[in-house]
Amino acid sequence: MDINKLTTYDLRFSLTIDFLMSQLAIACNDVETAYHPSLKRPILNGIDCQIQQGEFVALLGLNGAGKSTLLRAFVGLIPLHRGKIHINGMAVTKRSLVQTRHHVGMLFQGGGLIRQLSAMDNVLCGRLGELSAWRTLWGFPKRDSHLALELLTQLGLQDLAYQKTSQLSGGQQQRVAIARCLIQSPQILLADEPITGLDAIASQQVMQTLSNLHSQQGMTIVTVLHDLNLAAAYAERAIVLDAGRVVYDGSCENLPTQFSQVVGTRGEW
Ligand SMILES: Nc1ncnc2c1ncn2[C@@H]1O[C@H](COP(=O)(O)OP(=O)(O)OP(=O)(O)O)[C@@H](O)[C@H]1O
Ligand SMILES: [Mg+2]
Repeated sequence: MDINKLTTYDLRFSLTIDFLMSQLAIACNDVETAYHPSLKRPILNGIDCQIQQGEFVALLGLNGAGKSTLLRAFVGLIPLHRGKIHINGMAVTKRSLVQTRHHVGMLFQGGGLIRQLSAMDNVLCGRLGELSAWRTLWGFPKRDSHLALELLTQLGLQDLAYQKTSQLSGGQQQRVAIARCLIQSPQILLADEPITGLDAIASQQVMQTLSNLHSQQGMTIVTVLHDLNLAAAYAERAIVLDAGRVVYDGSCENLPTQFSQVVGTRGEW
């Protein structure tokens, strides 16, 4: 592009686009993964979506729709065949991975805690990426231990902080996993099925925790859920995937009806 030929209008347009991009927590443009032979299509098949900073979004869809793959793509864990993903205005590329991941906490499907370690040690594991190998030989800095305990306290787990996570209930374990994400001070929290396998009370507690992070700290939350009623109760917006495409992106009003209209009642749910 010859920069001398750019008009004032072009420059204004480009500055406006840059400004709008910087306001977005996540921008996903025409994202496509490689062709998947057994599906006879790419897993993600032309995804477009924009998530504003501070939004609370429920990511919905039947089993195999591509929800986990999309969350993993947001943090550069899935190679893209086409399209671009931006996190806080920064393109997710091999070079920018470390930087973009600083903005994002990821709660993986199943929690991924180390069962033999205490809740505190699991939370402190969230700091490993920040410390040199030498530093960890001497244990974690005191301020990290204080912060870990503070986070567990905020999540109602102060009495269980030194208990092995194998001895905690599913809901308590999920809250430890949330604390492990929060110790990285992310601006965006991606949660993959944070309440699957939990009873009604534990599910409410975990959803309330996410809701508090959103309303009190302005955290951007994108969470995969299979419970449409909980999605409607807590999220501001729903994105529904089907066969690797966005088939609904809008409000959570009448979500069960909206969902069955776009996806139908087929498949596992
Ligand atoms: N590592 C992989 N290798 C090959 N195929 C994969 C891989 N991961 C996912 N898939 C396929 O991609 C599709 C989407 O998987 P994904 O895990 O994203 O679905 P999902 O919407 O999260 O489903 P669920 O609700 O069951 O968690 C599925 O058909 C799955 O079989
Ligand atoms: Mg999944």
